[in-house]
Amino acid sequence: MKAFNFLLVSAMHVAAVCAQSISIGAPATGSLVVSRSTTTVEVDKPESLTPSDDVAIVIAMLNCGSSSPCSPPSEQLGSVLFQGPYSAQIQTPPKPPGENFTVTLPDFGSTTVQLAVVHLILVEAGPHVVLDIANITLAMD
Ligand SMILES: *[C@@H]1O[C@H](CO)[C@@H](O)[C@H](O)[C@H]1NC(C)=O
Ligand SMILES: *[C@@H]1O[C@H](CO)[C@@H](O)[C@H](O)[C@H]1NC(C)=O
Repeated sequence: MKAFNFLLVSAMHVAAVCAQSISIGAPATGSLVVSRSTTTVEVDKPESLTPSDDVAIVIAMLNCGSSSPCSPPSEQLGSVLFQGPYSAQIQTPPKPPGENFTVTLPDFGSTTVQLAVVHLILVEAGPHVVLDIANITLAMD
């Protein structure tokens, strides 16, 4: 019974964490971005019933070069384009709440890049810390 309760709690925990995970609303996966250009990164976060407090995000871009797939963002983030507070604002449905960040892209030349967003939140009583990472692959020219 104890083991079952533990599994149940773990499953609920995973569900709660998933519900708070961010996603990258823009740019679109696989789209083309230009070196040194100014680009809007939209960081979305679905509404959740579990109380959580967004603390901060880090937006980073890694030059994948010839390595396919790219190093996981948990191991290597690349150039940090933004680090600071995150606060999702209501957007027109069906879009989830989100926030736009205007960043200047690095000059990696013509290559494949990985855009990663790291999100730190405080959840519920305790609170406990949850870190989630979203990443997409883009083409850079
Ligand atoms: C972010 O930018 C997109 C595209 O310009 C826009 O549709 C959206 O409403 C913006 N979201 C916020 C929260 O400002
Ligand atoms: C990065 O994106 C890939 C493809 O969507 C996904 O399979 C992987 O789990 C993501 N990694 C992280 C740390 O989110």
